[in-house]
Amino acid sequence: MKYIICKDYKELSCRAADEIAGVLAAKPNAVLGLATGSTPEGLYAELCRRYAAGEIDFSQATGFNLDEYYPIRPEHPQSYHFYMDRHLFLHVNFDRARVHIPDGSTDDPEEECAAYDAAIEAAGGIDLQILGIGQNGHIGFNEPAPALIAGTHPTALTESTLGANARFFAPGESMPHSALTMGMAPILRARKILLLVSGAAKRSVMRRLREGTITTDLPASLLLTHPDTLVLCDREAYPGD
Ligand code: F6R
Repeated sequence: MKYIICKDYKELSCRAADEIAGVLAAKPNAVLGLATGSTPEGLYAELCRRYAAGEIDFSQATGFNLDEYYPIRPEHPQSYHFYMDRHLFLHVNFDRARVHIPDGSTDDPEEECAAYDAAIEAAGGIDLQILGIGQNGHIGFNEPAPALIAGTHPTALTESTLGANARFFAPGESMPHSALTMGMAPILRARKILLLVSGAAKRSVMRRLREGTITTDLPASLLLTHPDTLVLCDREAYPGD
């Protein structure tokens, strides 16, 4: 696991965009694993800016998002479908037939998850996986637990995640308590992983990650087994040595 400490969120977002641009320059039909949440918003804004400036082309790329709430309609303003449209897909030239997000409105979540893993495999696996990290150490919605599930699966969200994400929902609005998430296996099979970490609220989870212990109680620690993970961390989130 390599670290680049960025002076601020803007630099982190630009460096993350450089990584995506580099992958697409080398392989225009690359398969990108995409994340939602606050952290990648700056990255997506930068990708939209570069696309408008004619500097990047997504026309041959494929996207697989990490997760989606369950149950939720894709048109719900807090769905990750809606998020991806708003922050990226409506502004760049991704081919809609090649972007994938788990369907949070399915009647058969198990079947949806199995089909999602099959689609990732059929696409040849993920070339570059973008990740954020939860304050509890989750990646995707692989929450801390005595055991982690390999494949894409339905999962209950923990109190920590429900608390952290409640900020996105209007007061009084009910928030889904479950999600469909890519499992640890497709994430760890990605050829390269980019973990984005920003803000003082992530400093304590980063301190735990830097201890170097691998435990399912800190799902992000499994990234320590991956041969090509780059952590882009801003100074606020970096706990020091
Ligand atoms: C989002 C996701 C989550 C977030 C994590 C951090 O698709 O899978 O693991 O990356 O919860 O969220 P933010 O960036 O909002 O702190």
